Amino acid sequence: MTTFRDNLLAGKTAFVAGGTSGINLGIAKRFAQLGAKVAVAGRDPEKAARAAADIGVGAIGLSADVRDYAAIRGAMEQVVDQLGPMDIVISGAAGNFLAPALGMSANAFRTVVDIDLNGTFNVFRGCHALLNRPGASLIAITAGQAVNASALQVHACAAKAGINQLIRVLALEWGPEVRVNGISPGPIADTEGMKRLAPDAETRQSHFDRIAMKRWGKIEEVAESAVFLCSPAAAYITGTILDCDGGSQVGDASRGDLARGMA
Ligand code: NAP
Ligand code: COA
Repeated sequence: MTTFRDNLLAGKTAFVAGGTSGINLGIAKRFAQLGAKVAVAGRDPEKAARAAADIGVGAIGLSADVRDYAAIRGAMEQVVDQLGPMDIVISGAAGNFLAPALGMSANAFRTVVDIDLNGTFNVFRGCHALLNRPGASLIAITAGQAVNASALQVHACAAKAGINQLIRVLALEWGPEVRVNGISPGPIADTEGMKRLAPDAETRQSHFDRIAMKRWGKIEEVAESAVFLCSPAAAYITGTILDCDGGSQVGDASRGDLARGMA
């Protein structure tokens, strides 16, 4: 994509928690393409090293669990030591699986809330003193489940709803020096998330039918939203959640075909 000028993020340091695969790795790669110094972190050290190699020369891959405040804070201190104070921090680590509430143990529920919601608090609370301020930009990766209840996902719905409010409160507390926003991706192709949530062709087709854009999104499209939110073009945007979802949140588009036929 050539949406933004090549050196847009030159001189910036970006850290992506949960940036060792999928959507978040796509964001990290795009930041690096635009000139940022980039670090990513996940639990698996080998996966983190592979991700850093994939991003390119100078990128750092760290192992830290976002559920462990000291570990994630330590990882971010390493980033500052090696790349300088952080201008951009993405909190994108998440866990999800389909299970009915009655088929979910207390530990299963707690595990997802701990990764998604507590993890985002840990990343953002831990990074604040390490940021290049004023002007820093924080982005949490949330999801439509924060707003639209979805059976078999009580853990993810509750966790992402919490993230949406966390974004808004931190925007109030940390403005004007730090902007805090969220991105809510729709179903994104070739991701672990959609492998888990839409494992069969029938479920995938029903998703397409209901989305205004009639297709799943691309990792690169979410990455462009992240670049926008941390660019000067978004200098007056904080406390908002950008839906990069082909219209998934707008409503059910399956009758749109009928409407087009009648026009
Ligand atoms: P993914 O490939 O599974 O990425 C998850 C990342 O988080 C990996 O780097 C993983 O690495 C890391 N991670 C997981 N648990 C962690 C923990 N406890 N501590 C630190 N890192 C951890 O997922 P994805 O499908 O691309 O989703 C990425 C984000 O987009 C998530 O926030 C998800 O909720 C959101 N989202 C996705 C979709 C979609 O269509 N896929 C839609 C809406 C929202 P390790 O396993 O090595 O820890
Ligand atoms: N259905 C019901 N319960 C499940 C489950 C499923 N499909 N998968 C895991 N659990 C339960 C476990 O049984 C355990 O509960 P218990 O101790 O009462 O038995 C609890 O969840 C924690 O599981 P564990 O495997 O110990 O957690 P973990 O911290 O190693 O891994 C997960 C976290 C479960 C979220 C794992 O799926 C993961 O690492 N996900 C990251 C990737 C991902 O989900 N990507 C998509 C992002 S949208």
